[in-house]
Amino acid sequence: MNMIVAADTNWGIGKDGQLLAHLSGDLKYFKEKTLGKVVVMGRKTLESLPGGKPLSGRTNIVLTSDPDFDREGCIPVHSMEELREKCSEYPHDQVMIIGGATLYNALMEECESLFITRIYKEFSADAYIKNPDMLPQYKVVWKSEMKEEHGIQYRFFEYKRER
Ligand SMILES: NC(=O)c1ccc[n+]([C@@H]2O[C@H](COP(=O)([O-])OP(=O)(O)OC[C@H]3O[C@@H](n4cnc5c(N)ncnc54)[C@H](OP(=O)(O)O)[C@@H]3O)[C@@H](O)[C@H]2O)c1
Repeated sequence: MNMIVAADTNWGIGKDGQLLAHLSGDLKYFKEKTLGKVVVMGRKTLESLPGGKPLSGRTNIVLTSDPDFDREGCIPVHSMEELREKCSEYPHDQVMIIGGATLYNALMEECESLFITRIYKEFSADAYIKNPDMLPQYKVVWKSEMKEEHGIQYRFFEYKRER
């Protein structure tokens, strides 16, 4: 499995159930990286999507403890074990963890690649990911040039697990 996330200078990723910034270049990159694939998210991240609806053109797997969860276009899983089992039904390079903090932090070390958009700004946040630079098994294998929107600078990084 792999993950894709946008994080600020302090590795903040969200506040009050929403993203920290809306950068159209990042949303485009997210779409490119996930279209046609399997996206895996926590129930709160599903609620944060437009209309609380799953992402079109992708297989949507949603983690929830609610046994009655039944949402059109979503495949529910009810534990991390069930999530891993379900993900193992797909080729590993097709599975993208798309948040939120609970899933990123529980599954980061099981990911092959981490697609991280680094936003060079400090936001007020209440959701964070672990700092991947503190995990020795991950190395940056690619980074984009610096981008800028609304005076906010950001850059795409790809980390790969080496062992
Ligand atoms: N910057 C980014 O790239 C990015 C991407 C995605 C999300 N985010 C942000 O992340 C924040 C949300 O993160 P979050 O951690 O609060 O929520 P989350 O991971 O999206 O969802 C948490 C929910 O997942 C379910 N869950 C988690 N662990 C479970 C387990 N072991 N078994 C069963 N169900 C489990 C629970 O759903 P139930 O309550 O239904 O049981 C829980 O409330 C938001 O601010 C969002 O905007 C940022």
